Amino acid sequence: MEVIESRKQMQERAESLRLAGHTVALVPTMGFLHEGHLELMKVGKRHSDKLIISIFVNPTQFGPSEDLGKYPRDTEGDLEKARKVGVDFVFLPSTQEMYPEGYQTRLQVERVTQHLCGISRPGHFEGVATVVAKLLNITKPHMAIFGQKDFQQLTVISRMVMDLNMDIQIIGVPTVREPDGLAMSSRNKFLSPEERESALSLRKSLDLAGEMFMEGERGARVIKKAIESLILSHPHTEIDYVTLCDPVTLEDVETLTDETLLALAVRVGTTRLIDNRVLCKGSDQIISRS
Ligand code: PAJ
Repeated sequence: MEVIESRKQMQERAESLRLAGHTVALVPTMGFLHEGHLELMKVGKRHSDKLIISIFVNPTQFGPSEDLGKYPRDTEGDLEKARKVGVDFVFLPSTQEMYPEGYQTRLQVERVTQHLCGISRPGHFEGVATVVAKLLNITKPHMAIFGQKDFQQLTVISRMVMDLNMDIQIIGVPTVREPDGLAMSSRNKFLSPEERESALSLRKSLDLAGEMFMEGERGARVIKKAIESLILSHPHTEIDYVTLCDPVTLEDVETLTDETLLALAVRVGTTRLIDNRVLCKGSDQIISRS
């Protein structure tokens, strides 16, 4: 496994991989790797013969009051995990390397960023789209892998790639969960044991909505109300949003169709958690949205 810090060197290596006829996959991450990240890498390995991951805590996607300073980091542990999974290249740039003196470009994906997390995190998806576009230009992959846990992020990136005619396949991977159903997240480590219990209200909400949907309930307001009271019956919880929306446009729906996204953002103590599920007849997972 090769660790590369320079964008120029990464670009040269990526170019030679392509010239040698390799199929290249990229998994962008902010590090502090867990099983969710590793699953993305395993999917990447299955679809390609050279796997690049990036580890970069991107400052431009954090708001002024957000947790950039305390975002968990463990570079040595991350490299060890990546090595075990069989990653070929780790792109590990500094902030200076990504945003050198004079940097001034930001990329805006318009409508799908105006819902869900876009409301309480203004500018967040501009930061995400910009850094992902930069990472794609630096690592030149044929495909890039993202988690469905960050459903809106996956939507924004898919839209950007389509709109800018980037010749890259975007693959979405189902959310990896702890044995009790809590979606894995680098932020889970901030939860106290009591908050960890309350955090299960997100997964319970997805199950409750799934049951209501299967029993024929189609009223968004009814489902939303049931979920809100379930979440608030747990201590230390504060709801940012409970939204039922179209899984492509992310626009709110009043009546559920055969495929509706339930997306949640809940603050548990000081930790903001998100989760989602596509409510539909049959499977609730979307595997590939290129
Ligand atoms: P990060 O939060 O490190 O996540 C990296 C990737 O792992 C994302 O595609 C995310 O959706 C995925 N992921 C996280 N938890 C997961 C889980 N429990 N199951 C499956 N996949 C999971 O998302 C980012 O970093 C950044 O915004 C980034 C795209 C790297 C741009 O800076």
